[in-house]
Amino acid sequence: MKNILITGGAGFIGSHVIRLFVTKYPQYKIVNLDALTYAGNLENLKDIDHLPNYFFEKVNILDAPAIEQVFDKHQITDVIHLAAESHVDRSIVSPLDFVYTNIIGTVNLLNVARTKWKDDYSKHLFYHISTDEVYGALGAEGLFTETTPYHPNSPYSASKASSDHFVRAYAETYHMKTVVSNCSNNYGPFHFPEKLIPLFINNIITKKPLPVYGDGLYTRDWLFVKDHALAIDLIFHEGIADETYNIGGFNEWRNIDLIKLLCTLMDEKLGRAKGESVQLITYVKDRPGHDRRYAIDASKINKELGWKPTVTFEQGLSETIDWFLQNTEWLDNITSGAYEKYYDSMYSNRV
Ligand code: NAD
Ligand code: TYD
Repeated sequence: MKNILITGGAGFIGSHVIRLFVTKYPQYKIVNLDALTYAGNLENLKDIDHLPNYFFEKVNILDAPAIEQVFDKHQITDVIHLAAESHVDRSIVSPLDFVYTNIIGTVNLLNVARTKWKDDYSKHLFYHISTDEVYGALGAEGLFTETTPYHPNSPYSASKASSDHFVRAYAETYHMKTVVSNCSNNYGPFHFPEKLIPLFINNIITKKPLPVYGDGLYTRDWLFVKDHALAIDLIFHEGIADETYNIGGFNEWRNIDLIKLLCTLMDEKLGRAKGESVQLITYVKDRPGHDRRYAIDASKINKELGWKPTVTFEQGLSETIDWFLQNTEWLDNITSGAYEKYYDSMYSNRV
């Protein structure tokens, strides 16, 4: 019997993790702790929120006493920590928000877990979800492995790197059982349209310019979000304590190639003329400190735990586009609110 606290469960990846755990493990109690920031949306969970093993607590991870109450109320046995400020562009504008949530919020959670589980740390797991961005940027060659030195370049990745270090420090210092995974760029249903793929899907639907940063030759390694959730499930249950696991799709794309593929697929699905959406591509001012290339070596999780992606990029991207086209209400609800102001402030001075 486990009572698992999943933080950030109303966000993009968290909602997929919650859905997987709530449906696959009816014997577990799954508690979603989320502050519902701009990125948190309970609509992401409306298909499963009636299930008897699902609980929601609206709590900010900056509020340590409130976290403690949730631990007591639900007798939390394990944590899967996803709550974070997650967008690089926002971190460039407001770095301190990232320091508060990603560093101090993580330390608050660690502190509560340390107090509540002190009788026997071996019975409890603190699983921290991190990113490949902590490793910095790659040149044309090479892959990030679990032993690549940390070299974060953005306030976002610096804050995530710091939180990873705190998790390791708590394992060393207090002998808490922890595990960390560092994943590459995710995409899929419920992705907030500030990130490349959903932002471009939305702009193609509405025939808005497609803002390509810099020369468009930046490279990312894309993984379907449901495959990340499956990796998290596997690591949670079978990962070795105090280890770290890299998760990635062995699926590198230069931004401009990915954008062109997206345009082609969307023209087909929307019944538009071939080549129509590509015309929307607009090169804009680059992101400062923009990391040239990310690519994950996921051979450790593959060899040790038997994980590999279950869908190809073409399948995952097609499913993602279909989801956005079938869920226009979800997209409209987001883009009709504060999003418009965000979009103007981020993009009006880039052109
Ligand atoms: P997201 O921005 O979609 O969701 C973040 C969630 O955290 C939201 O529900 C938000 O309400 C909640 N949250 C934010 N601040 C909070 C606070 N102070 N207290 C409580 N809840 C708070 O993020 P995501 O893309 O789903 O990423 C989830 C995690 O995975 C993050 O830790 C991120 O660093 C990591 N990650 C993301 C990617 C990616 O491609 N998106 C890749 C690797 C790792
Ligand atoms: P993003 O989805 O923000 O993820 P991350 O920066 O965490 O990898 O961006 C993915 C890539 O797409 C990155 O190289 C920046 C680029 N990008 C654009 O060219 N235009 C955009 O409007 C956005 C949001 C991103």
